[in-house]
Amino acid sequence: MELLEQEYKNLVNGDRMANGRWIDIFSPVDGSLCGRVPAMSREDIDQAVLGCRQAQEKWQRTPVFKRAEILYRAADLLEQQAEEIAGMLVMEIAKDKKSALSEVKRSADLLRYTADVGKNSRGEAIFGDNFPGGSRNKMSFVSRVPMGTVLAVSPFNYPVNLSVSKIAPALMGGNTVLLKPATQGAVSALMTAYLLDKAGLPKGVLNTVTGRGSEIGDYTVTHPGVDFVNFTGSTQVGEHISQICSMKPMIMELGGKDAAIVLEDGDLNFAADNIVDGAYSYSGQRCTAVKRILAVEPVAGRLVEKLKTRIERLKQGDPREEGVTITPLISREAADAAQKLIDDALQKGAELIIGNRREGNLLAPTLIDKVTTDMELAWIEPFAPVLPILRVKNAAQAVEIANRSEYGLQSSVFTSSIDRAFAIASRLEVGTVQINNKTERGPDNFPFLGVKNSGMGTQGVKYSIEAMTRPKAVTINLRGGSF
Ligand code: NAP
Ligand code: G3H
Repeated sequence: MELLEQEYKNLVNGDRMANGRWIDIFSPVDGSLCGRVPAMSREDIDQAVLGCRQAQEKWQRTPVFKRAEILYRAADLLEQQAEEIAGMLVMEIAKDKKSALSEVKRSADLLRYTADVGKNSRGEAIFGDNFPGGSRNKMSFVSRVPMGTVLAVSPFNYPVNLSVSKIAPALMGGNTVLLKPATQGAVSALMTAYLLDKAGLPKGVLNTVTGRGSEIGDYTVTHPGVDFVNFTGSTQVGEHISQICSMKPMIMELGGKDAAIVLEDGDLNFAADNIVDGAYSYSGQRCTAVKRILAVEPVAGRLVEKLKTRIERLKQGDPREEGVTITPLISREAADAAQKLIDDALQKGAELIIGNRREGNLLAPTLIDKVTTDMELAWIEPFAPVLPILRVKNAAQAVEIANRSEYGLQSSVFTSSIDRAFAIASRLEVGTVQINNKTERGPDNFPFLGVKNSGMGTQGVKYSIEAMTRPKAVTINLRGGSF
């Protein structure tokens, strides 16, 4: 950690930091100190943006294969340091050990995927086009050029992966990057940025900005030196940013209320395994967590029994211990918000199957049956291990309730009929439909998007590079000489 503290300063041009204020990051696991990050001032942010802009020209002229080489090196470094970074994730965001390690390793893979896409075809996704026009005396050459300085804003729940998923494609597209990680998660994110730096990124190509979003967020996203905003976080903050940055291009990955639709011909054991994994891993703090079950009446009772048996087996407690799935939530406020949803549902007549026990931030995995559409839990994202079951008459009602949500990230359908699955998939208003699987983002080279209040734009290596580059046309006008 001492090494990193010095490195933060280098990463953020700390010698020029105007106010010298720091934020202590405490662990939600045991309250211990995970590290400190600078509470940057506007002047610090100006410096970080300026650093990116000064590095832009040279970086965008750096050959694609050279950019790729740096990403490959960063992937190797991330893998070498996987245990250490995962250890920080465990303490800083209370992620269980297995998921923490998986986050770091998949981020190394993501760096390699991204480098491959750029390198193999000399940039398939950043390849251009050409158009003849007029009476063939005009030719338009279209190349893809970087947007400039990309601001990458990542959330607390995946400080490594959701930073890398923005940084890597932005860099391959020839952009410089300003990273603003979530404050709770900033130490892990800075360790990642440090390794990218060590992999050989030229000075200024990746700068970091730290500080509370509520204090420096608006200033940073609206900064005239920021050309593109790539944001992952809550719908509330995402909407606010899109309003204040009216003309700035952006990608938004926001909240979700992913439904698992279980039909009478679905394999109930398989569905129960998947749903429990999808809903409760990392205590439900995943955008793609299964956040409601829509089960048809004839199988709902049996499904509930199977879910209950599996939930009883989930180990809860300290994320440092082997095999723990349910860990303390990121903050007391997060646990309070989830508790409110539970209380509202139970007061209005829903049936508690298991859970609803709390010790500080640690909320036991909770399953609530017979949730109805007048209850908040039917619509609001808990970001906690709380799963409602809404019993429905048939598939048509399941689709109708699924689509009534303000969100549209993903949905699952459990059925043994592929025809039915496709028919339902075509009606669901979401970015991705999973047939016979839990909702989930990965593999990370897949396209990933949310519709409605779940976001705008598409991520996933090829799409992310495309989104963070733009066409630039140069037209040759021929005078029609003779030969
Ligand atoms: P959040 O509170 O919205 O914060 C996200 C990021 O925005 C943090 O870095 C935060 O910094 C920053 N921020 C806050 N106010 C800002 C402002 N005015 N301008 C610019 N940045 C600002 O979300 P979270 O609690 O970290 O993450 C949980 C939410 O993210 C959930 O709703 C979840 O569904 C969503 N999420 C979505 C996806 C997806 O791919 N669709 C993936 C992961 C998470 P501070 O930490 O300093 O406040
Ligand atoms: O929280 C949002 C992440 O992008 C979800 O990724 O489905 O692999 O957990 P995951």
